[in-house]
Amino acid sequence: MIGKATGHTCVVGLGWGDEGKGKIVDLLCGGYDAVVRFNGGANAGHTVWIDGKKFAVHLLPSGVLHSEKLSLIGPGVVVDPTSLLGEIDALASQGVTVGSNLKISDRAHVVMPYHKVEDRLSEAAAGGDKIGTTSRGIGPCYADKVRRSWGIRIGDLLDAGRLGERVEQIVAAKKAMFAAIYGDDGGLDATAVMAEMTGAAERLMPFVADTTALLHERVDAGAVVLFEGANGSLLDVDHGTYPFVTSSNTTANGIGNGSGLPARSVEHVIGVCKAYTTRVGGGPFMTELTDAMGDRIREAGNEYGTTTGRPRRCGWFDAVATRYSVRIGGVTEVAMMHLDTLSGFEEVGVCTAYSIGGRETTSLPSRVEDLERVEPVIEYVPGWDEDVSGVERRDDLPAAARAYLDRVESLIGAPITIVSVGPDRMQTMVSGTSGAVGGGLTAAGRA
Ligand code: GDP
Ligand code: IMO
Ligand code: MG
Repeated sequence: MIGKATGHTCVVGLGWGDEGKGKIVDLLCGGYDAVVRFNGGANAGHTVWIDGKKFAVHLLPSGVLHSEKLSLIGPGVVVDPTSLLGEIDALASQGVTVGSNLKISDRAHVVMPYHKVEDRLSEAAAGGDKIGTTSRGIGPCYADKVRRSWGIRIGDLLDAGRLGERVEQIVAAKKAMFAAIYGDDGGLDATAVMAEMTGAAERLMPFVADTTALLHERVDAGAVVLFEGANGSLLDVDHGTYPFVTSSNTTANGIGNGSGLPARSVEHVIGVCKAYTTRVGGGPFMTELTDAMGDRIREAGNEYGTTTGRPRRCGWFDAVATRYSVRIGGVTEVAMMHLDTLSGFEEVGVCTAYSIGGRETTSLPSRVEDLERVEPVIEYVPGWDEDVSGVERRDDLPAAARAYLDRVESLIGAPITIVSVGPDRMQTMVSGTSGAVGGGLTAAGRA
Protein backbone atom coordinates (compact mmCIF):
# COMPACT_ATOMS: atom_id res chain seq x y z
CA MET A 1 0.00 0.00 0.00
CA ILE A 2 1.08 3.58 -0.60
CA GLY A 3 1.61 5.42 2.69
CA LYS A 4 0.60 8.98 3.58
CA ALA A 5 2.21 11.37 1.10
CA THR A 6 4.96 13.69 2.29
CA GLY A 7 3.79 16.81 0.41
CA HIS A 8 1.42 18.17 -2.24
CA THR A 9 2.08 16.40 -5.51
CA CYS A 10 1.19 16.97 -9.14
CA VAL A 11 0.86 14.35 -11.87
CA VAL A 12 1.37 15.77 -15.37
CA GLY A 13 1.85 14.35 -18.84
CA LEU A 14 5.24 14.98 -20.45
CA GLY A 15 4.05 14.48 -24.02
CA TRP A 16 0.92 15.22 -26.06
CA GLY A 17 -1.47 13.54 -23.61
CA ASP A 18 -2.59 9.96 -22.91
CA GLU A 19 0.62 9.05 -21.13
CA GLY A 20 -1.20 7.13 -18.37
CA LYS A 21 -1.87 9.92 -15.85
CA GLY A 22 -5.16 8.33 -14.74
CA LYS A 23 -3.42 5.13 -13.67
CA ILE A 24 -0.76 7.03 -11.69
CA VAL A 25 -3.34 9.29 -9.97
CA ASP A 26 -5.35 6.24 -8.97
CA LEU A 27 -2.24 4.45 -7.75
CA LEU A 28 -1.13 7.36 -5.56
CA CYS A 29 -4.48 8.69 -4.44
CA GLY A 30 -4.60 6.54 -1.29
CA GLY A 31 -1.83 8.67 0.23
CA TYR A 32 -3.65 11.97 -0.30
CA ASP A 33 -6.72 13.67 1.14
CA ALA A 34 -7.92 15.39 -2.02
CA VAL A 35 -7.56 15.13 -5.80
CA VAL A 36 -7.80 18.38 -7.77
CA ARG A 37 -8.21 19.08 -11.50
CA PHE A 38 -6.82 22.52 -12.46
CA ASN A 39 -6.87 22.68 -16.26
CA GLY A 40 -8.62 21.50 -19.41
CA GLY A 41 -12.06 19.99 -19.52
CA ALA A 42 -13.80 17.04 -21.14
CA ASN A 43 -11.00 16.85 -23.74
CA ALA A 44 -9.23 14.67 -21.18
CA GLY A 45 -9.82 10.94 -21.01
CA HIS A 46 -8.14 9.21 -18.08
CA THR A 47 -8.35 5.44 -17.83
CA VAL A 48 -8.29 3.62 -14.51
CA TRP A 49 -8.58 -0.12 -13.95
CA ILE A 50 -9.87 -1.20 -10.54
CA ASP A 51 -10.36 -4.89 -9.72
CA GLY A 52 -10.50 -5.78 -13.41
CA LYS A 53 -13.10 -3.10 -14.18
CA LYS A 54 -12.34 -0.26 -16.58
CA PHE A 55 -13.32 3.34 -15.79
CA ALA A 56 -12.76 6.35 -18.04
CA VAL A 57 -13.09 9.82 -16.56
CA HIS A 58 -13.07 13.02 -18.57
CA LEU A 59 -14.06 16.09 -16.54
CA LEU A 60 -14.12 14.42 -13.17
CA PRO A 61 -10.91 13.99 -11.19
CA SER A 62 -9.89 10.31 -11.08
CA GLY A 63 -10.24 10.63 -7.29
CA VAL A 64 -14.06 10.27 -7.62
CA LEU A 65 -13.50 6.53 -7.93
CA HIS A 66 -12.57 6.68 -4.23
CA SER A 67 -15.58 8.20 -2.53
CA GLU A 68 -13.73 8.94 0.74
CA LYS A 69 -11.46 11.42 -1.07
CA LEU A 70 -12.45 15.02 -1.71
CA SER A 71 -12.47 15.66 -5.48
CA LEU A 72 -12.28 19.25 -6.70
CA ILE A 73 -12.77 20.82 -10.11
CA GLY A 74 -10.84 24.08 -9.87
CA PRO A 75 -11.37 27.56 -11.36
CA GLY A 76 -9.02 26.82 -14.30
CA VAL A 77 -11.15 23.96 -15.65
CA VAL A 78 -13.81 24.52 -18.32
CA VAL A 79 -16.96 22.61 -17.41
CA ASP A 80 -19.55 21.27 -19.83
CA PRO A 81 -22.53 20.68 -17.49
CA THR A 82 -24.25 18.19 -19.80
CA SER A 83 -21.09 16.17 -20.26
CA LEU A 84 -20.33 16.27 -16.52
CA LEU A 85 -23.79 14.99 -15.59
CA GLY A 86 -23.50 12.28 -18.25
CA GLU A 87 -20.24 11.19 -16.69
CA ILE A 88 -21.75 11.10 -13.20
CA ASP A 89 -24.63 8.97 -14.53
CA ALA A 90 -22.26 6.64 -16.38
CA LEU A 91 -20.26 6.08 -13.19
CA ALA A 92 -23.49 5.42 -11.26
CA SER A 93 -24.31 2.66 -13.76
CA GLN A 94 -20.88 1.17 -12.94
CA GLY A 95 -21.65 1.28 -9.20
CA VAL A 96 -19.73 4.48 -8.34
CA THR A 97 -21.75 7.19 -6.60
CA VAL A 98 -20.59 10.78 -6.93
CA GLY A 99 -22.08 12.90 -4.15
CA SER A 100 -20.70 15.21 -1.49
CA ASN A 101 -17.15 14.07 -2.34
CA LEU A 102 -17.23 16.30 -5.46
CA LYS A 103 -17.08 20.10 -5.49
CA ILE A 104 -16.97 22.32 -8.58
CA SER A 105 -15.59 25.85 -8.48
CA ASP A 106 -18.12 28.62 -8.95
CA ARG A 107 -15.29 30.44 -10.77
CA ALA A 108 -14.86 27.72 -13.44
CA HIS A 109 -16.09 28.69 -16.90
CA VAL A 110 -18.97 26.90 -18.57
CA VAL A 111 -18.59 25.18 -21.94
CA MET A 112 -21.85 26.28 -23.56
CA PRO A 113 -23.54 24.39 -26.42
CA TYR A 114 -22.44 27.13 -28.85
CA HIS A 115 -18.78 26.53 -27.95
CA LYS A 116 -19.07 22.98 -29.25
CA VAL A 117 -20.75 24.27 -32.44
CA GLU A 118 -17.94 26.82 -32.85
CA ASP A 119 -15.26 24.14 -32.35
CA ARG A 120 -16.88 22.03 -35.09
CA LEU A 121 -17.39 24.92 -37.55
CA SER A 122 -13.89 26.36 -37.12
CA GLU A 123 -12.25 22.97 -37.55
CA ALA A 124 -14.31 22.21 -40.66
CA ALA A 125 -13.40 25.59 -42.16
CA ALA A 126 -9.69 25.09 -41.43
CA GLY A 127 -9.53 22.08 -43.78
CA GLY A 128 -5.98 20.67 -43.92
CA ASP A 129 -4.80 23.17 -41.29
CA LYS A 130 -7.22 21.97 -38.64
CA ILE A 131 -5.91 21.34 -35.13
CA GLY A 132 -7.74 18.03 -34.83
CA THR A 133 -9.44 19.03 -31.59
CA THR A 134 -11.54 16.73 -29.44
CA SER A 135 -14.67 18.76 -30.49
CA ARG A 136 -15.49 19.40 -26.83
CA GLY A 137 -15.69 23.20 -27.22
CA ILE A 138 -12.50 23.73 -25.20
CA GLY A 139 -10.79 26.39 -27.35
CA PRO A 140 -13.91 28.55 -27.91
CA CYS A 141 -14.75 28.45 -24.18
CA TYR A 142 -11.26 29.54 -23.08
CA ALA A 143 -11.34 32.22 -25.82
CA ASP A 144 -14.60 33.64 -24.43
CA LYS A 145 -13.17 33.51 -20.90
CA VAL A 146 -10.23 35.69 -21.94
CA ARG A 147 -12.50 37.93 -24.02
CA ARG A 148 -14.51 38.52 -20.81
CA SER A 149 -17.75 39.93 -22.22
CA TRP A 150 -19.03 36.49 -23.32
CA GLY A 151 -17.69 34.39 -20.47
CA ILE A 152 -20.19 32.47 -18.35
CA ARG A 153 -19.03 30.94 -15.08
CA ILE A 154 -20.52 28.10 -13.07
CA GLY A 155 -21.66 30.63 -10.46
CA ASP A 156 -23.66 32.45 -13.16
CA LEU A 157 -25.83 29.34 -13.70
CA LEU A 158 -27.41 29.98 -10.31
CA ASP A 159 -29.14 33.22 -11.48
CA ALA A 160 -31.45 32.05 -14.27
CA GLY A 161 -32.97 35.50 -14.90
CA ARG A 162 -29.68 37.27 -15.60
CA LEU A 163 -28.31 34.20 -17.43
CA GLY A 164 -31.32 34.21 -19.78
CA GLU A 165 -30.66 37.83 -20.80
CA ARG A 166 -26.99 37.17 -21.45
CA VAL A 167 -27.58 33.94 -23.39
CA GLU A 168 -30.10 35.79 -25.60
CA GLN A 169 -27.46 38.42 -26.48
CA ILE A 170 -24.54 36.04 -26.87
CA VAL A 171 -26.44 33.55 -29.05
CA ALA A 172 -27.59 36.37 -31.37
CA ALA A 173 -24.02 37.63 -31.69
CA LYS A 174 -22.56 34.16 -32.21
CA LYS A 175 -25.13 33.32 -34.91
CA ALA A 176 -24.24 36.49 -36.81
CA MET A 177 -20.54 35.77 -36.39
CA PHE A 178 -20.80 32.13 -37.49
CA ALA A 179 -22.95 33.07 -40.50
CA ALA A 180 -20.45 35.75 -41.58
CA ILE A 181 -17.35 33.59 -41.13
CA TYR A 182 -18.56 30.07 -41.90
CA GLY A 183 -21.73 30.72 -43.93
CA ASP A 184 -23.64 28.67 -41.34
CA ASP A 185 -25.20 30.05 -38.16
CA GLY A 186 -24.85 26.68 -36.47
CA GLY A 187 -28.61 26.27 -36.01
CA LEU A 188 -28.39 27.88 -32.55
CA ASP A 189 -31.50 28.68 -30.58
CA ALA A 190 -31.28 30.71 -27.32
CA THR A 191 -34.39 29.05 -25.83
CA ALA A 192 -32.95 25.56 -26.35
CA VAL A 193 -29.59 26.67 -24.89
CA MET A 194 -31.35 28.03 -21.79
CA ALA A 195 -33.48 24.91 -21.40
CA GLU A 196 -30.34 22.75 -21.41
CA MET A 197 -28.51 25.03 -18.98
CA THR A 198 -31.32 25.49 -16.46
CA GLY A 199 -31.99 21.75 -16.38
CA ALA A 200 -28.31 21.04 -15.77
CA ALA A 201 -27.92 23.88 -13.24
CA GLU A 202 -30.55 22.40 -10.98
CA ARG A 203 -28.69 19.09 -10.79
CA LEU A 204 -25.27 20.73 -10.49
CA MET A 205 -26.26 23.10 -7.68
CA PRO A 206 -25.27 20.79 -4.76
CA PHE A 207 -21.77 20.39 -6.19
CA VAL A 208 -21.02 24.11 -6.63
CA ALA A 209 -18.70 25.71 -4.07
CA ASP A 210 -15.91 28.22 -3.55
CA THR A 211 -13.29 25.50 -4.06
CA THR A 212 -10.44 27.98 -3.54
CA ALA A 213 -11.60 28.74 0.03
CA LEU A 214 -12.29 25.05 0.63
CA LEU A 215 -8.85 24.00 -0.60
CA HIS A 216 -7.08 26.52 1.64
CA GLU A 217 -9.22 25.54 4.61
CA ARG A 218 -8.38 21.85 4.14
CA VAL A 219 -4.68 22.48 3.52
CA ASP A 220 -4.47 24.68 6.64
CA ALA A 221 -5.97 21.74 8.56
CA GLY A 222 -3.21 19.42 7.27
CA ALA A 223 -4.68 17.92 4.10
CA VAL A 224 -2.19 16.72 1.48
CA VAL A 225 -3.32 17.28 -2.10
CA LEU A 226 -2.78 15.41 -5.36
CA PHE A 227 -3.17 17.58 -8.47
CA GLU A 228 -4.26 15.76 -11.62
CA GLY A 229 -2.97 17.43 -14.78
CA ALA A 230 -4.96 16.98 -17.96
CA ASN A 231 -3.64 16.83 -21.54
CA GLY A 232 0.18 17.02 -21.70
CA SER A 233 3.10 19.45 -21.43
CA LEU A 234 3.62 19.58 -25.22
CA LEU A 235 -0.04 20.69 -25.54
CA ASP A 236 0.51 23.68 -23.21
CA VAL A 237 -0.83 26.86 -24.81
CA ASP A 238 2.37 28.81 -24.00
CA HIS A 239 5.09 26.17 -24.11
CA GLY A 240 3.71 23.45 -26.40
CA THR A 241 3.87 22.89 -30.15
CA TYR A 242 1.75 25.99 -30.85
CA PRO A 243 -0.72 26.33 -32.54
CA PHE A 244 -1.23 22.54 -32.34
CA VAL A 245 -1.92 22.69 -28.62
CA THR A 246 -4.89 22.89 -26.29
CA SER A 247 -6.00 26.19 -24.74
CA SER A 248 -4.82 25.84 -21.14
CA ASN A 249 -1.64 25.61 -19.08
CA THR A 250 -1.05 21.92 -18.75
CA THR A 251 2.16 21.77 -16.68
CA ALA A 252 2.44 22.01 -12.89
CA ASN A 253 2.89 25.75 -13.41
CA GLY A 254 -0.86 25.85 -14.14
CA ILE A 255 -1.72 24.81 -10.59
CA GLY A 256 -1.50 28.31 -9.09
CA ASN A 257 -3.95 29.83 -11.54
CA GLY A 258 -6.05 26.75 -12.04
CA SER A 259 -6.65 25.81 -8.41
CA GLY A 260 -6.01 28.91 -6.27
CA LEU A 261 -3.29 27.18 -4.25
CA PRO A 262 0.13 28.71 -5.07
CA ALA A 263 2.14 26.47 -7.41
CA ARG A 264 5.14 26.72 -5.04
CA SER A 265 3.13 24.73 -2.45
CA VAL A 266 3.66 21.67 -4.62
CA GLU A 267 6.64 19.63 -3.49
CA HIS A 268 6.67 16.74 -5.96
CA VAL A 269 5.94 16.82 -9.67
CA ILE A 270 5.59 13.42 -11.29
CA GLY A 271 5.98 13.61 -15.06
CA VAL A 272 4.31 10.72 -16.86
CA CYS A 273 5.62 9.43 -20.19
CA LYS A 274 5.37 6.28 -22.25
CA ALA A 275 8.32 4.12 -23.28
CA TYR A 276 7.59 5.48 -26.79
CA THR A 277 5.60 8.51 -28.00
CA THR A 278 2.01 9.01 -29.16
CA ARG A 279 -0.08 11.92 -30.38
CA VAL A 280 -3.72 12.32 -31.45
CA GLY A 281 -4.87 15.12 -33.71
CA GLY A 282 -2.74 17.26 -36.02
CA GLY A 283 0.60 18.95 -35.53
CA PRO A 284 4.28 18.15 -35.67
CA PHE A 285 5.48 14.80 -34.32
CA MET A 286 9.22 14.73 -34.50
CA THR A 287 9.77 10.97 -34.01
CA GLU A 288 6.61 9.73 -35.74
CA LEU A 289 6.82 6.33 -37.45
CA THR A 290 4.43 6.34 -40.38
CA ASP A 291 5.53 2.84 -41.44
CA ALA A 292 4.83 -0.71 -40.24
CA MET A 293 6.84 -0.04 -37.05
CA GLY A 294 4.36 2.70 -36.05
CA ASP A 295 1.45 0.30 -36.72
CA ARG A 296 3.19 -2.35 -34.63
CA ILE A 297 3.49 -0.01 -31.63
CA ARG A 298 -0.18 1.07 -32.03
CA GLU A 299 -1.42 -2.51 -32.00
CA ALA A 300 0.93 -3.66 -29.21
CA GLY A 301 -0.03 -0.70 -27.00
CA ASN A 302 -3.71 -0.58 -28.05
CA GLU A 303 -3.22 3.07 -28.93
CA TYR A 304 -6.74 4.29 -29.63
CA GLY A 305 -8.13 7.46 -27.98
CA THR A 306 -10.01 7.28 -24.67
CA THR A 307 -12.09 10.35 -25.52
CA THR A 308 -12.60 10.13 -29.28
CA GLY A 309 -11.54 6.57 -30.18
CA ARG A 310 -9.17 7.97 -32.82
CA PRO A 311 -6.08 5.87 -33.66
CA ARG A 312 -3.07 7.48 -31.99
CA ARG A 313 -0.01 8.35 -34.06
CA CYS A 314 3.02 6.45 -32.73
CA GLY A 315 6.79 6.93 -32.73
CA TRP A 316 10.02 6.37 -30.80
CA PHE A 317 10.73 7.97 -27.42
CA ASP A 318 11.70 11.61 -27.87
CA ALA A 319 14.29 12.49 -25.23
CA VAL A 320 14.66 16.05 -26.56
CA ALA A 321 10.98 16.92 -26.10
CA THR A 322 10.71 14.98 -22.83
CA ARG A 323 13.74 16.76 -21.34
CA TYR A 324 12.14 20.06 -22.36
CA SER A 325 8.90 19.09 -20.56
CA VAL A 326 10.86 18.02 -17.48
CA ARG A 327 12.63 21.37 -17.37
CA ILE A 328 9.68 23.70 -17.97
CA GLY A 329 7.46 21.82 -15.54
CA GLY A 330 9.88 21.49 -12.62
CA VAL A 331 9.47 17.71 -12.79
CA THR A 332 11.08 15.98 -9.81
CA GLU A 333 10.52 12.36 -10.87
CA VAL A 334 9.21 10.41 -13.85
CA ALA A 335 6.76 7.55 -14.29
CA MET A 336 7.49 5.54 -17.43
CA MET A 337 4.46 3.65 -18.70
CA HIS A 338 3.95 0.86 -21.25
CA LEU A 339 7.38 -0.74 -20.92
CA ASP A 340 5.53 -4.03 -21.59
CA THR A 341 4.44 -2.76 -25.02
CA LEU A 342 8.03 -2.79 -26.30
CA SER A 343 8.66 -6.47 -25.47
CA GLY A 344 9.57 -8.40 -28.62
CA PHE A 345 11.04 -5.44 -30.54
CA GLU A 346 14.48 -6.38 -31.90
CA GLU A 347 15.73 -2.88 -31.19
CA VAL A 348 14.24 0.23 -29.65
CA GLY A 349 14.83 3.79 -30.86
CA VAL A 350 15.45 6.87 -28.73
CA CYS A 351 15.69 10.35 -30.22
CA THR A 352 18.74 12.08 -28.73
CA ALA A 353 18.84 15.25 -30.87
CA TYR A 354 17.08 17.02 -33.73
CA SER A 355 18.70 17.81 -37.04
CA ILE A 356 17.16 20.87 -38.69
CA GLY A 357 18.51 21.89 -42.09
CA GLY A 358 21.74 20.04 -41.30
CA ARG A 359 22.19 21.70 -37.87
CA GLU A 360 21.89 19.58 -34.73
CA THR A 361 20.17 20.78 -31.57
CA THR A 362 18.89 19.36 -28.29
CA SER A 363 16.49 22.29 -27.75
CA LEU A 364 12.84 22.29 -28.76
CA PRO A 365 12.32 24.84 -31.54
CA SER A 366 9.44 27.26 -30.97
CA ARG A 367 8.16 27.47 -34.55
CA VAL A 368 5.93 24.80 -35.99
CA GLU A 369 7.69 25.24 -39.35
CA ASP A 370 10.98 24.18 -37.74
CA LEU A 371 9.38 21.36 -35.74
CA GLU A 372 7.99 19.98 -38.98
CA ARG A 373 11.45 20.03 -40.61
CA VAL A 374 13.07 18.08 -37.77
CA GLU A 375 14.94 14.93 -38.74
CA PRO A 376 15.30 12.97 -35.50
CA VAL A 377 18.72 11.64 -34.58
CA ILE A 378 17.83 8.14 -33.40
CA GLU A 379 20.00 5.95 -31.23
CA TYR A 380 19.00 2.28 -31.40
CA VAL A 381 19.46 0.14 -28.31
CA PRO A 382 18.94 -3.64 -28.10
CA GLY A 383 15.36 -4.77 -27.43
CA TRP A 384 14.18 -7.59 -25.17
CA ASP A 385 12.04 -10.63 -25.89
CA GLU A 386 10.69 -11.43 -22.46
CA ASP A 387 7.14 -10.56 -21.40
CA VAL A 388 7.71 -8.07 -18.58
CA SER A 389 4.07 -7.55 -17.61
CA GLY A 390 4.45 -9.61 -14.43
CA VAL A 391 7.82 -8.26 -13.30
CA GLU A 392 7.66 -6.77 -9.78
CA ARG A 393 11.10 -5.18 -9.31
CA ARG A 394 13.16 -3.06 -11.66
CA ASP A 395 16.21 -5.23 -10.89
CA ASP A 396 14.31 -8.26 -12.24
CA LEU A 397 13.72 -6.70 -15.66
CA PRO A 398 15.75 -8.08 -18.59
CA ALA A 399 19.17 -6.41 -18.80
CA ALA A 400 18.27 -4.68 -22.10
CA ALA A 401 15.12 -3.14 -20.57
CA ARG A 402 17.11 -1.91 -17.57
CA ALA A 403 19.74 -0.45 -19.88
CA TYR A 404 16.97 1.31 -21.83
CA LEU A 405 15.57 2.90 -18.66
CA ASP A 406 19.06 3.98 -17.57
CA ARG A 407 19.75 5.54 -20.98
CA VAL A 408 16.46 7.46 -21.02
CA GLU A 409 17.03 8.65 -17.45
CA SER A 410 20.43 10.08 -18.34
CA LEU A 411 19.01 11.85 -21.42
CA ILE A 412 15.97 13.47 -19.80
CA GLY A 413 17.64 14.64 -16.59
CA ALA A 414 15.16 13.24 -14.08
CA PRO A 415 14.96 9.93 -12.21
CA ILE A 416 12.45 7.31 -13.35
CA THR A 417 10.94 6.28 -10.02
CA ILE A 418 7.85 4.50 -11.33
CA VAL A 419 7.83 1.89 -14.11
CA SER A 420 4.52 0.57 -15.41
CA VAL A 421 4.24 -2.76 -17.21
CA GLY A 422 0.48 -3.02 -17.74
CA PRO A 423 -2.78 -1.12 -17.23
CA ASP A 424 -3.54 -2.70 -13.86
CA ARG A 425 -2.54 -1.02 -10.62
CA MET A 426 -0.62 -4.17 -9.65
CA GLN A 427 1.57 -3.90 -12.73
CA THR A 428 3.67 -1.09 -11.32
CA MET A 429 7.15 -0.83 -9.82
CA VAL A 430 7.86 2.08 -7.50
CA SER A 431 11.42 2.80 -6.50
CA GLY A 432 12.31 3.48 -2.89
CA THR A 433 13.83 6.76 -4.08
CA SER A 434 10.44 8.22 -5.03
CA GLY A 435 9.97 11.43 -3.05
CA ALA A 436 6.26 11.58 -3.78
CA VAL A 437 5.52 8.08 -2.61
CA GLY A 438 7.87 8.06 0.36
CA GLY A 439 10.93 5.89 0.96
CA GLY A 440 11.22 2.18 1.40
CA LEU A 441 8.66 1.07 -1.11
CA THR A 442 9.45 -1.52 -3.76
CA ALA A 443 6.13 -2.51 -5.24
CA ALA A 444 3.49 0.15 -4.74
CA GLY A 445 0.69 -1.73 -6.39
CA ARG A 446 0.88 -4.55 -3.88
CA ALA A 447 -0.58 -4.47 -0.41
P1 GDP B 1 -4.20 9.52 -19.60
O1 GDP B 1 -5.06 10.40 -20.42
O2 GDP B 1 -2.81 10.09 -19.44
O3 GDP B 1 -4.80 9.16 -18.28
O4 GDP B 1 -4.01 8.17 -20.42
P2 GDP B 1 -5.17 7.35 -21.19
O5 GDP B 1 -6.03 6.68 -20.18
O6 GDP B 1 -5.85 8.21 -22.19
O7 GDP B 1 -4.32 6.31 -22.02
C1 GDP B 1 -3.43 5.41 -21.41
C2 GDP B 1 -3.84 3.98 -21.81
O8 GDP B 1 -2.77 3.10 -21.52
C3 GDP B 1 -5.03 3.46 -21.05
O9 GDP B 1 -5.77 2.60 -21.88
C4 GDP B 1 -4.39 2.69 -19.90
O10 GDP B 1 -5.23 1.67 -19.37
C5 GDP B 1 -3.21 2.10 -20.59
N1 GDP B 1 -2.02 1.88 -19.76
C6 GDP B 1 -1.54 2.64 -18.74
N2 GDP B 1 -0.35 2.16 -18.33
C7 GDP B 1 -0.06 1.09 -19.09
C8 GDP B 1 1.06 0.18 -19.16
O11 GDP B 1 2.04 0.29 -18.45
N3 GDP B 1 0.98 -0.82 -20.09
C9 GDP B 1 -0.10 -0.96 -20.92
N4 GDP B 1 -0.07 -1.96 -21.79
N5 GDP B 1 -1.16 -0.14 -20.87
C10 GDP B 1 -1.13 0.89 -19.98
P1 IMO C 1 -5.60 13.53 -21.68
O1 IMO C 1 -5.83 14.30 -20.40
C1 IMO C 1 -4.59 13.54 -25.93
C2 IMO C 1 -5.28 17.26 -28.15
C3 IMO C 1 -6.32 17.06 -29.24
C4 IMO C 1 -5.87 18.11 -30.24
C5 IMO C 1 -5.40 19.26 -29.34
C6 IMO C 1 -6.45 20.34 -29.10
O2 IMO C 1 -6.49 12.36 -21.87
O3 IMO C 1 -4.15 13.23 -21.84
P2 IMO C 1 -8.74 20.48 -27.72
O4 IMO C 1 -9.97 19.65 -27.82
O5 IMO C 1 -8.11 20.48 -26.38
O6 IMO C 1 -8.90 21.86 -28.26
O7 IMO C 1 -7.70 19.75 -28.74
O8 IMO C 1 -5.06 18.67 -28.10
N1 IMO C 1 -5.70 16.84 -26.79
C7 IMO C 1 -5.39 15.66 -26.25
N2 IMO C 1 -4.75 14.59 -26.75
N3 IMO C 1 -5.01 13.50 -24.66
C8 IMO C 1 -5.66 14.57 -24.12
O9 IMO C 1 -6.03 14.61 -22.82
C9 IMO C 1 -5.90 15.70 -24.93
N4 IMO C 1 -6.49 16.90 -24.73
C10 IMO C 1 -6.36 17.58 -25.87
O10 IMO C 1 -6.25 15.76 -29.78
O11 IMO C 1 -4.73 17.65 -30.94
MG1 MG D 1 -6.22 10.32 -22.17
